[in-house]
Amino acid sequence: MSGFAAVDVIRAKRDGGVLSDAQIDWVVDAYTRGQVADEQMSALAMAILLRGMTGPEIARWTAAMIASGERLDLSGVGRPTVDKHSTGGVGDKITLPLTPLVAACGAAVPQLSGRGLGHTGGTLDKLEAIPGWRARLSNDEFIAQLRDIGAVICAAGEGLAPADRKLYALRDVTGTVEAIPLIASSIMSKKIAEGTGALVLDVKVGSGAFMTSVDDARELARTMVELGTAHGVNTVALLTDMSTPLGLTVGNAVEVAESVEVLAGGGPADVVELTLALAREMLVAAGLPDADPAAALRDGRAMDSWRAMIRAQGGDPDAPMATANEIEVVRADRDGFVDTMDAYAIGIAAWRLGAGRARKEDPVSAAAGVVLHKKPGDPVRAGEPLLELRADDAARIPAARADADRAVTISATPPSRTPLVIDRIA
Ligand code: URA
Repeated sequence: MSGFAAVDVIRAKRDGGVLSDAQIDWVVDAYTRGQVADEQMSALAMAILLRGMTGPEIARWTAAMIASGERLDLSGVGRPTVDKHSTGGVGDKITLPLTPLVAACGAAVPQLSGRGLGHTGGTLDKLEAIPGWRARLSNDEFIAQLRDIGAVICAAGEGLAPADRKLYALRDVTGTVEAIPLIASSIMSKKIAEGTGALVLDVKVGSGAFMTSVDDARELARTMVELGTAHGVNTVALLTDMSTPLGLTVGNAVEVAESVEVLAGGGPADVVELTLALAREMLVAAGLPDADPAAALRDGRAMDSWRAMIRAQGGDPDAPMATANEIEVVRADRDGFVDTMDAYAIGIAAWRLGAGRARKEDPVSAAAGVVLHKKPGDPVRAGEPLLELRADDAARIPAARADADRAVTISATPPSRTPLVIDRIA
C-alpha cells in the first residue's frame, strides 16, 4: 500500500475534503499496525466528527476496518444465520431472551457482544452474573455451538476488526464517539466480519441512548442498513424508544432474572413486545417467515434453548445469583401518575450503585442495580415505592439516590404514551 503523511490526511478532512480510497485504506491499516500515532488518529477522528463523511467514504472506511482482521465463515453451521445489534440502552436485556428464542425457531444466532461502559449495560456483564458462565470462546467452539444449539452469546475474538478495537478505545477518551460515520462503521465492520447472513439493528432513541433525536437515529440506521446491504448482509433496522428503561430492572443479575421470566412466558409487557418484534424481523430476514416466536415462548422451546446455551458455556442456569446487601426504596412524594422515568438518570444511578464501570478494566457488581416498581402512565399514591436501589456497599447509595430522585416525575394527569417501535428502515 502506498504511503501518505498522516498529517496530510488529517488536514484534508479538517478542511472539509473527501478522503480518497487510497488515503482511507492507508490510514486505517497504518493505524492498526502502529505506524499512525494515537494523537494523529485522534485528530482525524475529531475532523471526521466535525466534517462528516460521504457515503462512499463511510463504505470504504468500513471495508478497511473489516480488512484489518479475519472474516468468519459460518456457511458450515447448517442453518440460516441472523444476528441483532442494539446501539445500547438502559435495561436493554433483549439479547438474552431473543438469542435462544430465534434459535428455537430454526435460525442460528452468532451474537458477539460487549461489556458496558458508562450508563449503558453490557450483555457479557449481565451473563457473567450466572455462576460458571464463560464469555470467551475460540472460533472453533463458537462455530460448533452455533451448529449444535443455534445460540451463542460471547465476546468478540481478538482477530475480528482489530482496527475498530483500537479506534473505539481512542474515541472513548477523545470525545469522538458520537460521530455517525464512526459509529456506523464501527458497528457494521464487526457484524460483517463475524459472518452473519442477516442482521437486525435496534437503533435506540431517547435520553438513555447515543442518539437523543429521531432524525439522528434515522440517519445512523440508514447508514448502517446501506453498509450491510452493500456487503451482502440482509439488514433491517428498527428505531425504538429509550427514554424509559426497558422492563423493570437495570443491572446484571436482576436483568438476567427478568429475561428468564420472559423465556418462561411472563415478564414485563415492553420487554416481551420488543423481543417478539425483533424476533419476527430476524426470522423474516433469515428466510423463516412462517416461524412463530410467540409460540416458542409459550411452549418452553425458547427456555430449553436458553438452558442449553448457558450450559454449553459452563453456566448453571439453576444456580442462585448474587443478591445485594443494601436496598434503599425511593417513594412517591404525592398522588398522581408517573410521568417520566428518565432512562439516562436511572442508568447513571445503576452505574453509581456498581452495576457499570467507569474504565474498561473496572469490575462490575453482579447484584447492584435498580428495580422499577412503576412505569410511566401508572397511577401512584404518596408513599408508594417507585424504585429500589440495590448495592453491595451502602456508601454507594447517596449519590445514586440523587440521580434516582431526579429520574422520576409525577403529574396530575396521565402522560401520552410513546410507541416502543418508532420506525422501521429497510
Ligand atoms: N458501539 C460500537 O460498537 N461502536 C460504536 O462506535 C458505538 C457503539
